[in-house]
Amino acid sequence: MAKINRTHNNNSLRLNNVNEKVSLVGWASKIRNLGGLIFIDLRDRYGITQIVAKPNNPCYNVMEQVRNEYVLSIDGVVLERESKNKNIPTGDIEVEVTKCTILSEAEQTPLIIADKTDALEDVRMKYRYLDLRRPIMQHNLMVRHEITKAARNYLDSQDFIEIETPIFGKSTPEGARDYVVPSRVHPGKFYALPQSPQIYKQLLMISGMEKYYQIARCFRDEDLRADRQMEFTQIDLEMSFVDEEDVFLVMEGMMKKIFKDVMNIDIKTPLPRLKFDDSMERYGNDKPDTRFGLELQTVNDIALDMDFSVFKDVINNNGVVKCINVKKGGEKYSRKDIDNFAEQIKKFGAKGLAWFKYDGINVSGGISKFITPNVLNKFINRLNLEKDDLVLFVADKKNVANASLSYLRNFFGKDLNLIDENKFNLLWIVDWPSFEWDEEEGRYVAAHHPFTMPKDEWKDKLLTDPAHCYSKCYDIVLNGFELGSGSIRIHEQKVQKDMFKAIGLTEEQAQEKFGFFLEAFKYGTPPHGGIAIGLDRLAMLLTHSTSIRDVIAFPKSASAVCPMSEAPTPIDEYQLKELKIKFETVEK
Ligand code: AMO
Ligand code: AMP
Repeated sequence: MAKINRTHNNNSLRLNNVNEKVSLVGWASKIRNLGGLIFIDLRDRYGITQIVAKPNNPCYNVMEQVRNEYVLSIDGVVLERESKNKNIPTGDIEVEVTKCTILSEAEQTPLIIADKTDALEDVRMKYRYLDLRRPIMQHNLMVRHEITKAARNYLDSQDFIEIETPIFGKSTPEGARDYVVPSRVHPGKFYALPQSPQIYKQLLMISGMEKYYQIARCFRDEDLRADRQMEFTQIDLEMSFVDEEDVFLVMEGMMKKIFKDVMNIDIKTPLPRLKFDDSMERYGNDKPDTRFGLELQTVNDIALDMDFSVFKDVINNNGVVKCINVKKGGEKYSRKDIDNFAEQIKKFGAKGLAWFKYDGINVSGGISKFITPNVLNKFINRLNLEKDDLVLFVADKKNVANASLSYLRNFFGKDLNLIDENKFNLLWIVDWPSFEWDEEEGRYVAAHHPFTMPKDEWKDKLLTDPAHCYSKCYDIVLNGFELGSGSIRIHEQKVQKDMFKAIGLTEEQAQEKFGFFLEAFKYGTPPHGGIAIGLDRLAMLLTHSTSIRDVIAFPKSASAVCPMSEAPTPIDEYQLKELKIKFETVEK
């Protein structure tokens, strides 16, 4: 085929190009045949240019054959438009076609190629290559590219080197299930796909690389959600000879650069820091959306003044009474709404939702009969009660009360329009407990991963007081999402041994799981630490998308399938034979 001429993209022509001869390419995105005058919106990655042919035009006949999504190559002359379109940058001009070549025809597409679509997500994913033609999706992928570019430029400027680590490896300790790949050469043995490059990046520190980063693919077999995919990408880094403050500094620098380059937003650093315990107390979770108030309050002391046995019993059983003052909620929400809220939080184990409304003088509804004037005064002071406020209480174990009320808080933030969608609130959550108690297993498990360094003052108390140990672990949070997570790692063998012991790993088990890794620590390990940012989540938030699927070119559906290729699919008998794998039906 002859060389295709292209002098401009479809977003570049303006009034100052009038009378120029130009050559354009693109897809026919909107066709209007006004019986004698054919207008076509020619679309490429950059934008749209209107092309036009009148009946006496030599290519009128070709233009007449063009249907939506045909691929065209045209020559023409730029003209000033009579009726201008203020909505697009090229709206002052049009191109009168002198030559039109149809490069490719198109059948009617199963979804409309436009930002607004009523196509179901399944259809969008089945025809993902068409979905990605929609300008908004192209924009999303470009923003993602800009983020990666800014991160690379920044990290390069800070002396980090990009190093790739294996996809075929051994299980990593991020806590999800592994995806595994059978080995043909070693029948019965499996590689595990990395949940993150955690082990390798630490080994690179032992190798003396000092500053590593990678735009790393990670694989985790866990339930998928709007912000979770089975394969996703991290901006992953690790540094030697550092403590927490050094990692914060680098990460804040990187965020500053990304927000400036991609959004032209100046973010203020240092970023605010919130201790994990305070975050749980005030927001009920470890990834607070700080763009609005409605903070939670523990009111055990006031609850004890009330003659309400539900509250008293919970407190006497080491529980808490926590509440949220829903500002102006008294006006907006009916009793039926509140019953519905109570229903919603059952999924967190909440047994009820107590409430009252305040009209500026009196209380009404729910548990108001237990609110004496004295108790009301205390609530007015503590909760800053004002006219038309609605107070909601959950009395339960701390984690149930927190989960329930943080869920409601996030709901009210949206429902009461308290969130400025143009705001980006980044913050650090610091001082995490080293361990979490696992009810099911009846033992402590590592809250981050078992290579996380305890705070200096807790280093020698891992075995004697695990419940109160805090670690050098940090999360970075953006608008209610956990954006990234990291820690300073243990580089002393004694501390590592205690750590394994504390989570109930015997020396043999630790050897079997991480033997090669622990071996490496014997040969001179620098103090080191790092962090990984979820690139998909960052791109989702910066593009105001509702799911990370909208910033991933070819994502999986919520049920972990690819509607386009239909993966996962069975494999051929001969492949199974080669792998020496035989299926047995297993009772569920
Ligand atoms: P962590 O497991 O917290 O830490 O992951 C870091 C960040 O990766 C993103 N993320 C995900 N994004 C999309 N889909 C998923 N399934 C998913 N899982 C995690 C989140 C999260 O904050 N190796 C450590 C980091 C370190 O210690 O340096 C790690 O992987 O944004
Ligand atoms: P009851 O005494 O069970 O009729 O409950 C009175 C009110 O207290 C109802 O509005 C319940 O939803 C609420 N309630 C019951 N248990 C709890 C609890 N654990 N925490 C908060 N409210 C509760």
